[in-house]
Amino acid sequence: MRVDVLTLFPEAFPGPLGIGVVGRAIERGLLSVTAHDLRGYTHDRHRQVDDIPFGGGPGMVLKPEPLLEAVRGFRSQDAVSRVILLSPQGRTFDQEVARELAAEPHLVLVCGRYQGVDERAREEIGEELSIGDYVLSGGELAAMVVVEAVARLVPGTLGSQESLTEETFTDRGFEPPLYTRPAVFEGREVPEVLRSGNHAAIERWRREQSDERMRRRRPDMARDAAQIGGV
Ligand code: ADE
Repeated sequence: MRVDVLTLFPEAFPGPLGIGVVGRAIERGLLSVTAHDLRGYTHDRHRQVDDIPFGGGPGMVLKPEPLLEAVRGFRSQDAVSRVILLSPQGRTFDQEVARELAAEPHLVLVCGRYQGVDERAREEIGEELSIGDYVLSGGELAAMVVVEAVARLVPGTLGSQESLTEETFTDRGFEPPLYTRPAVFEGREVPEVLRSGNHAAIERWRREQSDERMRRRRPDMARDAAQIGGV
């Protein structure tokens, strides 16, 4: 998978994407993450990327010309690129969206900044994603979150140790209680069933625990899962 990131802060990349599972995927050539400086698409002496809003108001607005020159360039090079603006007004990013994006060969992630993005650029980009109902100063961290979540779903990215097929419980983000040695820690014991060697019983116990956790902590998710035959 190829990911291009359009940003005013290319030096922020790869940042945390350079480590762990995603870092390894980049090293192995399964994934490329390239940051492009939005200022590189300006043609004036001051390399101006933003301007004051028509009608007044606080803050600055990202100008349409550099953004759209960059986006049109990516789209004309590659007809299958999927261009997404990171913005708190977008569709909420979740595991389902991550799975959808993992099937794409090429993502172009556009990081907004300042007060906002000129509406004409926003319209032409056409797709927006938010990583949650809070406001960040810019889309860079949001883009990293999206890449991190999507990259681990790209085939071959996870080693057999972390294999997705074993993630029966964590598909939806809910792990059963996990324990490692020692069997007794400060008087607190690992549940007997996990030491029983009975794999069917262990599987059943883990599923019950994970379902119970979801019902208690995220009843909204448990209801959704019940509708599709889960919890
Ligand atoms: N930019 C600012 N806030 C954001 C958010 N919550 N999600 C995505 N991009 C953003």
